[in-house]
Amino acid sequence: MGELQVIDPAFIQAPEHRPKPESVQANNVPLIDLSPLGAREPDLGTLESLVAQIGQACKDWGFFQVINHGVALHLREKMELVSKQFFAMQKDEKKKVARDEVKPLGYYDTEHTKNVRDWKEVFDFTLQEPMILPHDHEHREMWNQWPPHNPPQMKEVCQQYGAEMEKLGHKLLELIALSLGLERDRFKGFFEGGTTSFIRLNHYPPCPVPDLALGVGRHKDAGALTVLAQDEVGGLQVKRKSDGEWILVHPTPNAYIVNVGDIIQVWSNDKYESVEHRVKVNAERERFSIPYFMNPTHDTKVEPLDELLSSRNAAKYRAYCWGEFFATRKLSNFKKLDVENVQIYHFKN
Ligand code: OGA
Ligand code: NI
Repeated sequence: MGELQVIDPAFIQAPEHRPKPESVQANNVPLIDLSPLGAREPDLGTLESLVAQIGQACKDWGFFQVINHGVALHLREKMELVSKQFFAMQKDEKKKVARDEVKPLGYYDTEHTKNVRDWKEVFDFTLQEPMILPHDHEHREMWNQWPPHNPPQMKEVCQQYGAEMEKLGHKLLELIALSLGLERDRFKGFFEGGTTSFIRLNHYPPCPVPDLALGVGRHKDAGALTVLAQDEVGGLQVKRKSDGEWILVHPTPNAYIVNVGDIIQVWSNDKYESVEHRVKVNAERERFSIPYFMNPTHDTKVEPLDELLSSRNAAKYRAYCWGEFFATRKLSNFKKLDVENVQIYHFKN
């Protein structure tokens, strides 16, 4: 007789959403070398080819990995170490910086995705303080919470790492703009004067029922762009556009995984779709990942870009306010709701 596993039923995925024992290994998302960006005088052909690769990856996968991205390895390693040290602390230490409905940044271990609990714990911090979000027709300021003593230097390391992520994020957005035939700095204005970008430290502990639960349930990222560092354990799966199969993104040492979020989908009028992904957990090994969610200012009105529209390509979305969308999402993740979260298709024409 099998061993009886007792876990909170809140973690159990519906049968159709459970991971298959063997995920498809044959393929991987595109791997793109960003070294032309670092060259002193990159030749035009090389840059053009880079832009074409980015465009193709955004269209075919919505996901890609980048290498030679310019983020110093020692800084990434420092960040990964701090993350491990933070999660290794006693629960009551971590709870001292717990997030709640009034202070939505900090530590959290009961997030739900699509109303099923995720097998993970997280720590969120914003890059520009305060982060401003609309709230009941007013604005609310949100501040980071840092553990007072340990891990040492946590705040400084997080801030340094965050600054590097912002640089990389803007480089990627420029490439994406060029790939859409737009001006290189077309997206820049949406991120000026206080973004709502944030970084999340994710810890996925070993899970006794890896076939029933997920580290993060299937979802799309709501913001503009996500740049994720994953460790060597692996578990991120991407829904392949061509056939709907879940594809494991094999860890590539020191690479970043990039995916377009819902906002780029709307800006591009569906040319680049935000793709579903999820995280498989592991019975033996814990896993860490660090996504940077690049989000515009709270007052950004998100809508298809004029330059991409024509009589044959009418706007597929009505404009929506990013800050309101984001605030609604953030709040709903706190509790198991009976209704679905706000989604971009609610703004479809
Ligand atoms: C997320 C996410 C993937 C991972 O936090 O939105 O998709 O590999 N994380 O941790
Ligand atoms: Ni995600």
